[in-house]
Amino acid sequence: MAEPIAFTLRLRRYDPESGDAPFWAEHTIELEPHRSILDGILQAKARFDGSIAIRCSCQAAICGSCGVRINGRPGLACNTRLRDALRDAPDGVIEVEPMGNMPVIKDLVVDMDAVHWKKIRRVTPWLVAEEDGLPEREHLVDRDSMVDVTQAMACIQCGACVSDCLSMEADPLFVGPAAAAKAYRFVADPRDTQQLERLRDLAEDPHGIYDCTHCFTCIDACPKGVAPMNQIMRLRRRAADDHGIVDRNNGERHEAAFATLVRDRGLLHEAELLPRSYGGDSWLGKFHPAAGRVLLSSLPVVTKALLRGKVRPRVAVAGERLPREDRRHVQRIFDTVEGRPERLELNLYLSGVDEDGAGAAGRPPEGSETR
Ligand code: SF4
Ligand code: SF4
Ligand code: FES
Repeated sequence: MAEPIAFTLRLRRYDPESGDAPFWAEHTIELEPHRSILDGILQAKARFDGSIAIRCSCQAAICGSCGVRINGRPGLACNTRLRDALRDAPDGVIEVEPMGNMPVIKDLVVDMDAVHWKKIRRVTPWLVAEEDGLPEREHLVDRDSMVDVTQAMACIQCGACVSDCLSMEADPLFVGPAAAAKAYRFVADPRDTQQLERLRDLAEDPHGIYDCTHCFTCIDACPKGVAPMNQIMRLRRRAADDHGIVDRNNGERHEAAFATLVRDRGLLHEAELLPRSYGGDSWLGKFHPAAGRVLLSSLPVVTKALLRGKVRPRVAVAGERLPREDRRHVQRIFDTVEGRPERLELNLYLSGVDEDGAGAAGRPPEGSETR
């Protein structure tokens, strides 16, 4: 059995009610290396300073209470081993601070209600079942549908994804990764009667699903593999491809233009993307009045980028293309994906096999893949 060893924790302390500025406090604790950051904080609290504030309950990565940032990354304090955190600590001191994008109540405790829960409530986080015609007994749902929502259902509402979402930092009104994943859980549930309304609402909201910038941060942050960004992409596919929702934020047009440019050139052409997103998905798009307006408004940014050498004038105007043979490979990928009779949704969350050997546990929707 491993012996206890010394670890130094650097905790961010802050009490907004005191009027004092935040500060760092260091404590050296002694624990076996496999023990958690939460164990370390609780020991520091018991041995050195009872006023350290941390929220926790289950200590088993189930309740979602102990979200913090460890060495600058969001995660669960009870689910992060001291030895692993030490490996990531640049100066040998494990740094723990409160999650981001939410106001601090005290020390490591943030106000989840002010941000996270408010956004969850925003997406109507319950099933809206039909009022008439309910089955006499239980509502039978086909297995494939439930497999599809399993990943979103694994969320424990810890807020780690919200903490470091880059879009939320830029736009605090963005619905955010956790709430979007929750929305997908009901949009994909065949018992819900509000799927179209939910999708339209989230597509038309300027702070809705098209506000995500695909930074992947929420995927890295989530301790439960919910991959909120993937749920947002699924919401977009359902909104645009399945229901033809062309939103007023140009989200659907932007994605269509993006895909067309990559298909035709093998690479993105930024200068074409903007006018096509507003004026229509063709070379003529730039002559549409809406495209003209947005091009004019982007001139200061483009000029700055040119002056700073971030963009070469020739590339800015004409863009770049892959060689013809490479473009053919890209186009073949498009042909394969678009030629499928049904869209494939990859549910990479579930794994394993049924005990009775009848197939993969949580057999994925037809054509889906489990790993
Ligand atoms: S991928 Fe989207 S939702 Fe996820 S953290 Fe980035 S911006 Fe936020
Ligand atoms: S999606 Fe993941 S990171 Fe976000 S709240 Fe749920 S469990 Fe936490
Ligand atoms: S204490 Fe429950 S998830 Fe950490």
